[in-house]
Amino acid sequence: MGHQIIIPKAGGNQVLKHETILCPANLPDSSVRVLTAFSGINFADIVMRLGFYQDAPPYPFVPGYELSGEVSEVGSSVTSVKVGDKVMAGTKFNGYSSELILPASQVVKIGKLSLEQAAALPVSFLTSYLVFIEEGRVRDGDKILIDCATGALGQLSFSLLKKYDLDIVGLTSSESKKKIIEENGGRAFTHEEFKDSNEKGFNIALNSIGGASIMEHYDRLAPSGKIVCIGASSLFENGNRSIFRALKVVYQMPKFNIIKLMNDCKGVMGLNVLRLFDGTDYLMDLLKKAEEFDLTPHVDKVFDATDVSAAHAYLESKQARGKVLLKW
Ligand SMILES: NC(=O)c1ccc[n+]([C@@H]2O[C@H](COP(=O)([O-])OP(=O)(O)OC[C@H]3O[C@@H](n4cnc5c(N)ncnc54)[C@H](OP(=O)(O)O)[C@@H]3O)[C@@H](O)[C@H]2O)c1
Repeated sequence: MGHQIIIPKAGGNQVLKHETILCPANLPDSSVRVLTAFSGINFADIVMRLGFYQDAPPYPFVPGYELSGEVSEVGSSVTSVKVGDKVMAGTKFNGYSSELILPASQVVKIGKLSLEQAAALPVSFLTSYLVFIEEGRVRDGDKILIDCATGALGQLSFSLLKKYDLDIVGLTSSESKKKIIEENGGRAFTHEEFKDSNEKGFNIALNSIGGASIMEHYDRLAPSGKIVCIGASSLFENGNRSIFRALKVVYQMPKFNIIKLMNDCKGVMGLNVLRLFDGTDYLMDLLKKAEEFDLTPHVDKVFDATDVSAAHAYLESKQARGKVLLKW
């Protein structure tokens, strides 16, 4: 018998349902069975629970993009991992499960990372790598803006970027969380302080708030600077589902004109790493190299899987200061 958490319908965190399942006995030749230790919770899980995520499968479904655990069985053609190996995995949905059958290509053996850290790594590492290294082409001397600097992705980004000589400005909604940014080596501003400041000349701006903030951050780019848009966290506030608010945020998203981009000498890029999360070789090859970057994924809080509603509530009320995990 195994356990999983389903989102049965759109709604607040109380809709999440814990259920017992019979795990399939048969294992395909190229797959592995993983007994989950920890599942990572992502902001996107909340957006899809609220009914605002276009890529979510129809309800009911099991959310979850990342996990860590131990291999309990391997298919006959699998050579990359063996029974007993500690692993992390990226999966497009179904990550909130105590046991999972996954293609071996999506499972990566871990070295010195703890199981907690390993569950916190896949989404934040791959997103941060693609934003700053692949799309942003970060270089020493760059000025960087991170608008979600205190959460899992923001803190992992500080860890990934530590080998560069950068001026990193981190934003937060909370005066008290500014010290997280400063401890990571950045300069901290609340969103209001940043609006009133004349900070500009950014070479790379990571924008996850969306809506009107995209144009505000675009206007502060240096010549040939880039804004990488990865989300729209302003779609909701305090976990409340307001269609009116969501429509307003979508309406405020700018539509860029190529002539304007040419004349401004700026770039606008986008990323949805979760679209690439179904075994894309390139991503999984990157994940295999993750430990070479000597990263420190910051795990903030671990909830028992039966307390998943409390875990979502913690995240959507902006209390999170790093990755939030479910323990099985
Ligand atoms: N497109 C992609 O491929 C991709 C991949 C990963 C993440 N993302 C996006 O990047 C952002 C950060 O991801 P993450 O993993 O770091 O998330 P996280 O750990 O859940 O970050 C939580 C923090 O985000 C801030 N936040 C801003 N708006 C919020 C809201 N409406 N409700 C709750 N918290 C809000 C809060 O920090 P402050 O109080 O300090 O502002 C909160 O503590 C999210 O918007 C996420 O959707 C996109």
